[in-house]
Amino acid sequence: MKKIVILTGAGMSAESGISTFRDSGGLWEKHHIEDVATPDGWRNNPGLVLEFYNQRRSQLLTCKPNAGHIAVAQLENTFDVQIITQNVDNLHELAGSSKVLHLHGELIKVKSTGPHHEIYDLEEQKPYIKVGDLCPKGFQLRPNIVWFGEDVPEIERAALMVKEADIFVVIGTSLQVYPAAGLLHNVATNVPIYLIDPNDMPNLPKHITVIKKGASDGMKELIKFLQKK
Ligand code: OAD
Repeated sequence: MKKIVILTGAGMSAESGISTFRDSGGLWEKHHIEDVATPDGWRNNPGLVLEFYNQRRSQLLTCKPNAGHIAVAQLENTFDVQIITQNVDNLHELAGSSKVLHLHGELIKVKSTGPHHEIYDLEEQKPYIKVGDLCPKGFQLRPNIVWFGEDVPEIERAALMVKEADIFVVIGTSLQVYPAAGLLHNVATNVPIYLIDPNDMPNLPKHITVIKKGASDGMKELIKFLQKK
């Protein structure tokens, strides 16, 4: 089976009703990154940070995978599919994808602020955390999100996956955030690259096939390209 590696970003989940970050009206127009998505923000006002992610989580609980997520999951009938997502939602998993690597963490999990950074599933009956909520070892819990200025622990595993791809696909990411955006440079020579995004993407290498559509329609088009191969 050929191996398809798919890098996804916020645009993948836009049609499920989750705002992107940098489009007009996106999340970073409404919130200051440094207040809610950095270690300094957490030190200055943990309550605000927890509330921000509690809101993201309660919104996620009302969302469903869109036709794009479902089409990505169905590719598993024909290909060995590895998803590398920058998204912290669980919509790829809910759509049925079996191999999903989360580069920037997961909303439905929480992390200990203790020395070993243990990760725990959030209980379904209590999908939020507050200041004072502690891990079993007595340390404050924080969102399991990789904040700006923090290491991206899964990036090396992701780079190895990308190097082994026979086909590489990018869906719904502005490619502005590193190291995730740099994964494009790990694709082996002569491996076809497809990029699905409804907006113009500046400065892309010429050999990328751009499908200028949203995730759902773009996936239909991608499947036509893959059938021709
Ligand atoms: P961005 O908001 O930067 O980019 C979203 C991309 O999705 C843009 O290129 C849009 O044109 C595109 N898009 C919009 N609607 C779409 C649709 N219906 N279908 C497909 N694409 C669509 O989001 P990311 O690139 O994911 O990190 O942002 C990367 C990281 O920055 C995020 O993981 C997050 C953020 O700050 C953290 O919070 C650590």
